[in-house]
Order: sequence, then structure tokens, then C-alpha cells
Amino acid sequence: MNLLVLAFLSLALGFIFNLWGHPAKNEPIPLVDLKFTETNTARMSASDLIRTGGDTSGLECYACHDKKVAIKLKFDAENNVILPKEHEDIVMGHGSHKRNNNCFNCHDETNLELLQTRDGRQVKISESTQLCGSCHGPTYRDWEAGVHGRTSGYWKRDMGPIDRKGCASCHNPHSPPFPGRQPAPGPHALHPVTAPVTTHE
Ligand code: HEC
Ligand code: HEC
Ligand code: HEC
Ligand code: HEC
Repeated sequence: MNLLVLAFLSLALGFIFNLWGHPAKNEPIPLVDLKFTETNTARMSASDLIRTGGDTSGLECYACHDKKVAIKLKFDAENNVILPKEHEDIVMGHGSHKRNNNCFNCHDETNLELLQTRDGRQVKISESTQLCGSCHGPTYRDWEAGVHGRTSGYWKRDMGPIDRKGCASCHNPHSPPFPGRQPAPGPHALHPVTAPVTTHE
């Protein structure tokens, strides 16, 4: 009996005077970079810009162009559109064989500030989804059904509207392939990883 008391007492003293040291401190777990949780779309379309009151001066074509002078497109020997320095921010790459790089497949020749759908309707630049839909029928059908793109808002329509992002909020009309997004880092392991991690890249 006395022996047991003694044993526990010495154990207690051992802990108090910290004979065996402390366990290693846990590494602080870094927070996930907020860019991985933000809900913005990949880009701001002209329509988003107009809606949020951004700088729309680039959409005022007739600040530079003359309404009475028809534009003649210039092409190089390989049939690429030659762009003036005023438009050097535009990189054309629509379709795998530059099939859709002609400005007037989309912009209206008679009124630059409008778009023209392939079934001949003139639509505003803020209504570009109609334009895309006139060539990309199957994707547009998916988009209308909420399968392609992104829908948020209310399921129950009498409580509020739905918000469906337009094509140009994700795809750049001039070079539409989706650039992809960096994946967020994996979860933190419970125990520190000791063996080197092999990745397959
Ligand atoms: C900052 C001035 C400026 C603005 C704003 C501007 N343009 Fe231009 N654009 C030019 C100049 C300069 C040229 C080259 C000369 C020309 O063809 O008239 C040009 C050329 C073009 C061309 C012919 C490209 C080629 O092959 O030569 C198209 C198409 C065009 N612009 C469309 C537009 C549209 C659509 C808008 C509005 C959404 C617009 N531009 C706004 C200055 C401007
Ligand atoms: C005049 C018809 C036409 C219009 C308008 C049009 N596209 Fe395209 N699009 C094409 C063609 C043609 C291709 C090339 C298909 C191919 O190369 O196989 C293409 C390809 C694409 C691709 C696939 C890119 C890739 O390389 O995988 C995307 C994404 C796309 N378009 C999005 C859009 C969006 C968004 C709009 C509206 C801003 C739009 N398109 C308007 C005809 C059009
Ligand atoms: C596939 C359709 C399509 C083609 C082809 C196209 N555009 Fe556009 N363009 C658009 C749409 C849609 C917008 C509105 C942009 C947005 O919503 O972000 C736009 C915007 C613009 C703008 C104003 C904003 C900006 O991005 O600078 C200019 C200028 C312009 N286009 C010029 C041209 C010229 C020049 C060509 C030919 C070399 C051309 N576009 C070819 C669909 C097209
Ligand atoms: C919320 C973002 C978003 C919206 C809105 C959106 N797309 Fe896409 N789209 C994507 C992504 C992401 C891909 C897949 C890219 C990949 O697989 O590399 C894609 C792929 C595509 C492709 C390539 C072919 C395919 O199916 O892989 C086409 C064409 C296309 N979209 C057209 C459109 C059109 C037209 C609209 C509007 C009616 C639209 N997209 C709206 C994000 C969007």
C-alpha cells in the first residue's frame, strides 16, 4: 500500500518537474488562401461591368470610329486579323483552327456597339449570351436548363429571382477556352507526414 502511494507521488513529482520534457508542439495549421473560397466568376463580362457601374469607356466604339465609314478588316498572309495598337489587348483564338476570328461574325458591321446573332438579330453587348447561343446551340440548351454554367438564387421563384451567369462571365469571347483554375491544397494530415510524398505530375 505505502509502496503504491510512493510510486504515484514520485510520478507526480516527475510530471511537475517535467523530467521527461513536453511533447512536441503542434504545427499551426495555415489558413486556406481566401482566393479559393471567393465566389466570383472567372472574369467580368461587359454586362457585369455595366451592371456594377464599372469603366465602360472601352465599349463606346464611336468615341474612336466614324459611324459613316465602314470598317475593312485587314488580314495577314496566314489569314489572321491584323489589329491596330488601340486593340492590342484583344487576343483572338476562337476555335481550334481560328475558325471564328472574324470580328463581324459577332459584332454588327452597321453598328459596332451592337452584336449580331447568326439568325440576324441585333442584340446589345450586354446580351452576348444570345449571340453565343446562336452558334453553340447544344451548350446554350444546357445553359438554359442550368446544366452548363452557374445558376444561383431561389429555387422557389415566388421568393425571388434566379441568377444565371452569362457565357462571357466565364469565357472571353475573343479567346473562349476556359483557362482552368488552380486547385486548393489538400487537407492537413492528423500526423506529420514523415515519408516523402510522391506526386504524379
Ligand atoms: C480607343 C479607340 C478605339 C475604340 C474605343 C474602339 N476602336 Fe476599333 N479600332 C480603332 C482603330 C484606330 C482601328 C484601326 C483603324 C480602322 O480600321 O479604323 C480600329 C479597328 C477596328 C476593327 C478592324 C480591325 C482590323 O482588322 O483592322 C474593328 C472590327 C473594330 N475596331 C471594332 C471595334 C469595336 C466593336 C469597338 C467597340 C466595342 C471598337 N472598335 C472601339 C480604335 C478604337
Ligand atoms: C459565329 C458562330 C460563333 C459564335 C457567335 C460563337 N462561337 Fe464559340 N465557337 C465557334 C466555332 C466554329 C468554334 C470552334 C469549334 C472547333 O474548333 O471545333 C467555337 C469554339 C468555342 C469554344 C471552345 C474552345 C475550345 O477550343 O475548346 C468555346 C468555349 C466557345 N466557342 C465559347 C463561345 C462563347 C462564350 C461565345 C459568345 C461570346 C461564342 N463562343 C460565340 C463559333 C461561334
Ligand atoms: C465570338 C464573337 C466575337 C468575335 C469573333 C469578336 N468579338 Fe469583340 N466582343 C464580343 C463580345 C461578346 C464582347 C463583349 C465582351 C464581354 O462581355 O466581356 C466583345 C467586346 C469587344 C470590344 C470591347 C471590349 C474589349 O474587350 O476590348 C472590342 C473593342 C471588340 N470586341 C473588338 C473586336 C475585334 C476588333 C474583333 C476582331 C478581331 C472582335 N471583337 C471579334 C464578341 C466577339
Ligand atoms: C460559370 C462559368 C461558365 C459559364 C457561365 C459558361 N461556361 Fe462554358 N465552360 C465552362 C467551363 C468550366 C468549361 C469546361 C472547360 C474545360 O473542361 O476545360 C466550359 C466549356 C465550354 C465549351 C467547350 C466545350 C465543352 O463542352 O467542353 C463551350 C463550347 C462552352 N463552354 C460554351 C459556353 C456557352 C455558349 C455559354 C453560355 C450559354 C457558357 N459556356 C457558359 C464554364 C462556363
